Amino acid sequence: MAVKLVAKPGEVEFPKGMEGVIANESRKSYVNGLEGKLYYEGITIQDLAEHSSFEETFFLLLYDRLPTADELAILKHRMTQYRNLPNEVYELIESVSAGYLAKPMSVMRTAVSMTALFDEAAEEETEAAFEREAIKITSRMATIVAAINRVREGKPIVQPRADLSHAANFLYMMRGEEPDEFDTKVMDVILVLHADHGCNASTFATLVVTSTLADMYSAVVGGISALKGPLHGGANQRVMKMLNEIGSADNVENWLADAVAKKKKIMGFGHRVYKAMDPRAVILHGYAKEVTKRAGTEDWLVMAEKIEKFMIEKLGQKGIWPNVDFFSGVVMSSMGIDDELFTPIFAVSRAAGWTAHALEQRKDNRIYRPRFVYVGPATQEYVPIDER
Ligand code: SDX
Repeated sequence: MAVKLVAKPGEVEFPKGMEGVIANESRKSYVNGLEGKLYYEGITIQDLAEHSSFEETFFLLLYDRLPTADELAILKHRMTQYRNLPNEVYELIESVSAGYLAKPMSVMRTAVSMTALFDEAAEEETEAAFEREAIKITSRMATIVAAINRVREGKPIVQPRADLSHAANFLYMMRGEEPDEFDTKVMDVILVLHADHGCNASTFATLVVTSTLADMYSAVVGGISALKGPLHGGANQRVMKMLNEIGSADNVENWLADAVAKKKKIMGFGHRVYKAMDPRAVILHGYAKEVTKRAGTEDWLVMAEKIEKFMIEKLGQKGIWPNVDFFSGVVMSSMGIDDELFTPIFAVSRAAGWTAHALEQRKDNRIYRPRFVYVGPATQEYVPIDER
């Protein structure tokens, strides 16, 4: 049935925000929203969080299967080789991050863009080049975020080490000291959980850019730009602002009742696809118990659990449940991570999904070009300016 392309505003029905619209086929991840389940290539997120690593999960997303021990060692070596940044990028980060001048996500967007200018292979159009750029960019995102963090803290930038895993090296560059096994595991789980999630807004942005056959850096910058928004990547930062605004567990019920009555969006809740508990929130909640105990921040967890209980009772039947952002803020804050770095860390992980989807898109590409329903004025004469 032909869709009416010229109509009066509101005359033609279509799903706002492309809700439920199929963009393409993909095998990377499946989000079962009704049952609250998530799989990467058919493997449950619970199994990946417990048994896998960010590097192994990245291999799975890139090549659609788990690696052998040798293949994993090769990918780890390749990622390690790319950890360093061009000096000019470090200088850029130092010049704009000090004194909290620019938002970390803005600095990250620019730093990734600038890294491309010093990468002679950035515009190379071969399968091997696209794959290499995917690994290079994903590896370097961690170095960029850690450098931004150090400059914001007024501390010297820490150079990457080759003898640490991606998660351990990231925390080492963030803190200036080697993390213990528990913190490394928690960061690795955070990176595994955020690596991919179907056709979310930032992955879709990456795919639209890729579909014009633009380069991998441009596609990732598109993803970073989309993730920057508070309705997508920025929510966990606003969860912490909400906890601080509520102040204590005793205030939770009154604060929330007022917010819900005013139809305010409660950060860390609701999802376009999940109409049940986000399985990633369950996994992060599990780690939050030990993380907050070690950090002495159990009060945050008590508040968060009270908010969770209230929201599920009040809005659960409307399909509004905790999402990945709800407990991630409590976990990362308790690990001493500044809330301005939460979304950049989301991007450090999601670069794996963005680049894996970009490579998948290139294998069977067609440019994304949807339509608008035109609701503007019918033809009208051009009126010379002195007659207006
Ligand atoms: C991520 O897509 C992904 O996969 C994203 C992600 C990923 O891994 O890539 O999972 C990561 O982005 C998680 C979501 C983080 N964002 C937030 O926590 C921000 C708060 N959440 C909402 O803004 C909202 O739930 C969205 C944006 C996540 C989803 O919005 P939709 O699907 O467009 O839903 P909607 O805004 O149309 O709301 C539908 C109804 C409305 O009520 P009615 O007007 O029908 O009465 O649900 C209500 C909304 O008011 N609602 C909420 C709510 N979210 C939706 N009410 C209170 N609090 C909320 N958080």
